[in-house]
Amino acid sequence: MGFLGSWTVEEAVRRGYRVIVVDALTYAANPDNLSTLNVRFVVPSVRHFWSLIRAEGEEVYPLVSVPSYGYDTVADLEREIEEFLNSDLDALVVVASVEDPDLMKRLMAHVEGVVHLAAETHVDRSIEDAWDFVRSEILGFYSTVDAFRRVKGREGKFLLVSTDEVLGEILEGAADESAPLMPRNPYAAAKSSQEHFAQSYINTYGTPITIVRPTNAYGPRQHSEKFVPKIILNAIRGIPIPVYGDGRQRRVWIYAEDVARGIMDVYERGNFPDVYHMASDDELENLQLVKKILAMMGKDESLITLVEDRPGHDRRYSLKWDKLRGLGWSPKVNLEEGLRNTINYYAERYVNRPSVRR
Ligand SMILES: NC(=O)c1ccc[n+]([C@@H]2O[C@H](COP(=O)([O-])OP(=O)(O)OC[C@H]3O[C@@H](n4cnc5c(N)ncnc54)[C@H](O)[C@@H]3O)[C@@H](O)[C@H]2O)c1
Repeated sequence: MGFLGSWTVEEAVRRGYRVIVVDALTYAANPDNLSTLNVRFVVPSVRHFWSLIRAEGEEVYPLVSVPSYGYDTVADLEREIEEFLNSDLDALVVVASVEDPDLMKRLMAHVEGVVHLAAETHVDRSIEDAWDFVRSEILGFYSTVDAFRRVKGREGKFLLVSTDEVLGEILEGAADESAPLMPRNPYAAAKSSQEHFAQSYINTYGTPITIVRPTNAYGPRQHSEKFVPKIILNAIRGIPIPVYGDGRQRRVWIYAEDVARGIMDVYERGNFPDVYHMASDDELENLQLVKKILAMMGKDESLITLVEDRPGHDRRYSLKWDKLRGLGWSPKVNLEEGLRNTINYYAERYVNRPSVRR
C-alpha cells in the first residue's frame, strides 16, 4: 500500500499474477493506492509488535502479541486464502507486519515467489531514530526470507528491492553490481543489513534471492514527506520549499511505473540469485530538479529556501545498469512526462481542497 509497492502490485496484476500483499499499514501506506484493483483486505486477530520493557535499568524490545480484530484462527486465514484463490480478485491484502514469522511461513505455502518491498524509507526519520528501520528492514526481512527458505528451500524466487544508497556516495563515475556496500546513513545501513542476510542465505542455503537496487524513484502516490511531492505541494500552496545545504547533491531519477516494470522484468527474466542495478540517464542536482518543477508549474524560484544540510548527506549516487538493459529493460517515461504526471496527480488532489487547519 506504499509508493513503489502499489505500482509493483498493479504491474504484476497486469501480467496475470494474483498477489497476496502483506502491509503493516504504517503512516506511509495508503489503501487508496490499490484502488485501481479488485482487492480484499483482511486483518489478523493477533498482531505482533515490539514493546519497550525496562528490566533492571536496561531497555529491551521483546516481540509481544496482542489481540486485535478480524480473522481469529489459522483456519480462518487459510479459508480467506482459499476463497481468494477461488475468486476473481486481483489481490488479497493481509494487514500485518512482515515481522511475524508464523504468518510469513503460512503465506509462503501459497506463493511461487516473493517481492520484498516492505520497509521504512525516509532517511530523515532514520537519522532522528532508526528503531522502526531496524524492525521493518532487519527483523522484517529476516522473518520473511527465513520463512521462504524453510518452506520453499531452493524452489521459487525471492526478489529483494534494495537501494543505490547501500553503496554510499559515488562522487565520480558509476558503480556496477560488484561495488562494496558502504552505507552512510541509518536507513542505508538497515537496507545493507537486508543485503548481507540475503547474500548469506544464498551462500549458506542456496536460497534463490535476487537483489534489485533502484535509484531515486518519483511519481504519483509517493508520500508527501519525500522530496518531489514536497516541492510540488509547497509550490501549490505557495510556501517555502526547503532544499538541503547548497542544493548541489546529484541524484538519478526514475518514474515509478518504470521501476515497477523493471522489478517484474527481473522477477520474470532475471537470474536467481543475482544483483541488478536500475537507473536512468536523468541525473540532476537537487536545485536543478526544483527549478525544473517550478518552471513546469509556472511558479517563482523565490520559493526555494536553502536550509541546514542533512547530517551525513551523500553528494551523489550513480549506478551502471547495463545488466538490466541486457534483460531488455530501459525507462520508458522521460523526466518531462513523468514530472507532468506527478504534478497533475498532486494538483488534482490538493488544489482547492480546504485546509484542515483553517
Ligand atoms: N522510493 C524510492 O526512491 C526507492 C528507491 C530505491 C529503493 N526503494 C525501496 O523500495 C521499497 C519501497 O519504497 P517506497 O518508496 O515505496 O516506500 P513507502 O514508504 O512509500 O512504502 C513502504 C511500505 O512498506 C510498509 N511497511 C513498512 N514496514 C512494514 C512492515 N514491518 N511490515 C509490512 N509492511 C511494512 C508500509 O506500510 C508502506 O506501505 C523500500 O524497500 C525502499 O527501500 C525505494
